[in-house]
Formats: sequence, C-alpha cells, structure tokens
Amino acid sequence: MDYKNLIKIALDYRERAYSPYSEFKVGAAILFDSGEIYGGCNIENASFGATNCAERTGIFRGISEGEKRIKAVAVVGSLEEYTFPCGICRQVIVEFGDEDVKIIIAKNEDDYIVKDMNDILPGAFKKEALGK
Ligand code: THU
Repeated sequence: MDYKNLIKIALDYRERAYSPYSEFKVGAAILFDSGEIYGGCNIENASFGATNCAERTGIFRGISEGEKRIKAVAVVGSLEEYTFPCGICRQVIVEFGDEDVKIIIAKNEDDYIVKDMNDILPGAFKKEALGK
C-alpha cells in the first residue's frame, strides 16, 4: 500500500484546517475499498463541542459519496510528534473499517508508524453487539 501518497494527501488537507481556537491543524486521508481517497481537515466551532476532527470529516465525505468500507486512514497533526486519532474517531473508523484497516500516524511522508485498529481500540463496541 502506498502510505506516502496517503500521507501527502493528509498533509495537503491539514493546510485546510479551520482551527482558530486550538490553532492545531490536523489533516487526514481515507482510503476506501473502491480505491478512492477522501481527505479531511479539522473544523472547529465557537461552540467547541461542535468541532469535527479531520478523520471524521474525511470518513463522512466518503460515506456520503457512496463509499462502503475503509482500508486505511492516514493522519497528520503535529509535525513534531505523532498525533493519534481521538477516541470518537477510533469508534467511527471501527464502524466502517475492514478487519485489517491500517492507521498511519505520520509527522511527514518519511516518518510514520502504522497501527492496527485492534491495537488502538481493543475490545471495541461493534454493530455485532446490537445483533447487526
Ligand atoms: N483533532 C483532530 O482533528 N483529530 C484527532 O484525532 C485529534 C484532534 C482536532 C480537533 C480540534 O480541532 C483540535 O484537533 C484540537 O483538539
């Protein structure tokens, strides 16, 4: 899998962040099983709880265009240290992620780590718990 391309897209979307309150930019790139990639940035709000993370922006863009399953998610926040997806985004990735979904946590195209979803959200609550 071409992680470098996915990270490049996440970096591009990071520049689109609307984050005047935290001043923390995040970009994400979501690879779906169709092969399409959707980018996203964090979008903050004066009512802080209305903020949307970069990962969910990209996921919801793809799902609303008819994408079904996520193969990989790249995320770039801080350029100095690895920025892990927040808990809410992890839960949303689980909803649409294949069993083998890869999470690429990057500072740049040459400095990244790859995690399995089970590593970063073990024991996740899934649709099977609802009989679905
Ligand atoms: N943020 C993301 O976009 N993704 C994450 O996984 C962690 C946090 C954003 C939300 C908010 O705009 C800023 O980072 C600070 O929390």
